[in-house]
Amino acid sequence: MEKFSITTPIYYVNDRPHIGTAYTTIVCDCIARFKRLSGNNVFFLTGLDENSVKTVQAAKANGFSSVKEYADMMAEEWKSIWRELGISNDDFIRTTEERHKRNVYELFKRVYEKGDIYKGKYEGFYCEGCESFIKELDLIEGKCPLHKKEPKKLVEENYFFRLSKYQNALLEHYEAHPEFILPEGKRNEVISFVESGLEDISITRPDIGWGIKAPIDDSQIIWVWFDALVNYLVNKEFWPTTVHMMAKDIIRFHAVIWPAMLLSAGYPLPKTIFAHGFLTMNGQKISKSLGNAIDPRALSKKYSLDALRYFLLSEVPLGDDGDFNEASLVNRINNELVANYGNLFYRVTSFTQKNFDSRVPEGTLGEEEKELKKKLSETKAFFEKNFNEFKIHEAIKQVFSLSSIANKYFQDRKPWEQFKKNRQDCSTTIFTSLNLIKGISILLLPIIPSAAQKALSCLKTKADWNTLEEFSLKPGQSIKCEMLFKKIN
Ligand code: MSP
Repeated sequence: MEKFSITTPIYYVNDRPHIGTAYTTIVCDCIARFKRLSGNNVFFLTGLDENSVKTVQAAKANGFSSVKEYADMMAEEWKSIWRELGISNDDFIRTTEERHKRNVYELFKRVYEKGDIYKGKYEGFYCEGCESFIKELDLIEGKCPLHKKEPKKLVEENYFFRLSKYQNALLEHYEAHPEFILPEGKRNEVISFVESGLEDISITRPDIGWGIKAPIDDSQIIWVWFDALVNYLVNKEFWPTTVHMMAKDIIRFHAVIWPAMLLSAGYPLPKTIFAHGFLTMNGQKISKSLGNAIDPRALSKKYSLDALRYFLLSEVPLGDDGDFNEASLVNRINNELVANYGNLFYRVTSFTQKNFDSRVPEGTLGEEEKELKKKLSETKAFFEKNFNEFKIHEAIKQVFSLSSIANKYFQDRKPWEQFKKNRQDCSTTIFTSLNLIKGISILLLPIIPSAAQKALSCLKTKADWNTLEEFSLKPGQSIKCEMLFKKIN
């Protein structure tokens, strides 16, 4: 079995999941489910970034005297919200855990022993929203462009990492591995950034009583990014990671600083860093700090989890920004889930129930049916190819186009007339339609897991990827009729 691993960023513990963080997590969940379905040994990791000054501030603001207690409480919330949203992560890493701290110390030690850490003086700006040092020339009207807040002016004695030393090695790696940074536009941006010259970065801060202490100096804690990135090393069996997924806001940390840290420590590099776009509302990035966060639980309760997933995965091509809009969500539910796939499933299974005593009839495949079978097999191949190229919306489009074809076949063959005139033709229509639904439902498992699983249970069949294109439903076996989705008025 081939190994495949995928990670979300570890989110700041002081927030709760909103539709933006849910988007990344659902994208990763969908890819993890697809990879498991298609026979890979999968490790899907998410977790929390806790050693930030934001955590200390939020604990205080929420009346907690212990920062750890606050983080523990929030961590339970994150875990339970992901469970509620059906996220299938295999592990959940918190940066306050010992297993994480051990990895941070180990990496820090290796980098230090390599001679890549030295003492220096930092004078400049720091944005607490980004948890990052920020250059004056990147400020807009004196404020961080992402958080719209004035950064702090700092003069600090701390330790630096020789990032500049890795400029050429990084450029060589980008050149030799075009799949290292995706999509291509982001890759080009990172390359120009690195080509414009890398400066060494400060990687410790004065100890504020929270965070991981620098092993070489008790008065300092490790800068939260130099700590957080190390979370990805939690499972040695699945290192190097296949895909680090995130939005474009944190691509430089992942595609510049992280590989430089790994090169310095002598660890292998991850295969792909994929930066998707922002979910926006009226063109503005959705985030807690901008005050326009939407609760994914409320949406999933209102429309169903599958509907929310379907919308997020089909509406926005992965890599592009996408505006969140409830009217388009409703349109997609009604026009695609209800009127296309749901309709097909209901029409075919209810016809079987009524006219064939809920049993799969015998079928003799003619030219048209053989053509449809071929189409199913081609759709599977396209689906797999598109998924592997991160074109999830395209993969979905292909399946829905096959579902339209299956609907048309059923409509054109008029089984209700065939039933009266030629019972054998009618059997073939239903046998073929049921088998097409089976294949389509298996393909839809990573996208709309609950509905697709329900469909397969109704067809009393397993989610077998290898035989999905075969018309393997046994004549005589019983099936159940079901309405998979409800129209939203
Ligand atoms: N803690 C750091 C990440 C450390 S990873 C080693 C961090 N956390 S965060 O809570 O701010 O999460 C940022 C990530 O959340 C984005 O990169 C993206 O994956 C997700 N998103 C947050 N808002 C989003 C949108 N509005 N749209 C798309 N993704 C969003 O940065």
